[in-house]
Amino acid sequence: MRIFLDTANIDEIRDAARLGVISGVTTNPSLVAKEERADLKAVIEEIISVVDGPISVEVLATEVEAMVQEARSLSSWSSNVVIKVPASAVGLEVTSILAKEGIKVNFTLCFSLNQAILGALAGAKYISSFVGRLDDVGHDGMELVADIVNAFELYNLDTEVIAASIRHPLHCIAAVKAGAHIATVPYRILMQMIQHPLTDVGIARFAQDWQSIANKV
Ligand code: E4P
Repeated sequence: MRIFLDTANIDEIRDAARLGVISGVTTNPSLVAKEERADLKAVIEEIISVVDGPISVEVLATEVEAMVQEARSLSSWSSNVVIKVPASAVGLEVTSILAKEGIKVNFTLCFSLNQAILGALAGAKYISSFVGRLDDVGHDGMELVADIVNAFELYNLDTEVIAASIRHPLHCIAAVKAGAHIATVPYRILMQMIQHPLTDVGIARFAQDWQSIANKV
């Protein structure tokens, strides 16, 4: 499973990139708005300068022609830009048009196997299945990820499944077990993934034991 960072915060992206495990970044309008920077292009260009991998940027227009125009403009910024398109009927039409033009689409806000299959058939490069938001309304978000992965394998669809809306480290473990191709994780959760109290205790004990020998010689 690959890991994308789910943020538009450049400091988090720089810190995470240094760990050497991030192969892409996903943003959405809410994450970009949190940064309080009006120039989306500047934000994305900064991210591109740090991470050499797919950077998802969401279209804001709501009608087919306007979305396609916006997507073309966003994708002209870099070959690494992936266009996030919502999993609606309009989004499906947009995805089909963009895929035919060779523009990579992240079919986002996906909450059902039907949406995922349609997105893949339309030519989306990625499907973002929102785990946490499904859990929030009493459904098993990770079960859907597993179902999508299995269906894509069964029908030889090469669309990759992103486990998105990840809320805690257990979601990351479950995403691995579900066979997600990618988990897009907030920075805080990435840092939780590497932490274990027994590792901290072990490091301290090794240092202490070594020091006790060093003191004797
Ligand atoms: C990623 O592509 C999504 O935009 C993101 O994971 C949504 O997460 P949230 O449900 O915590 O807002």
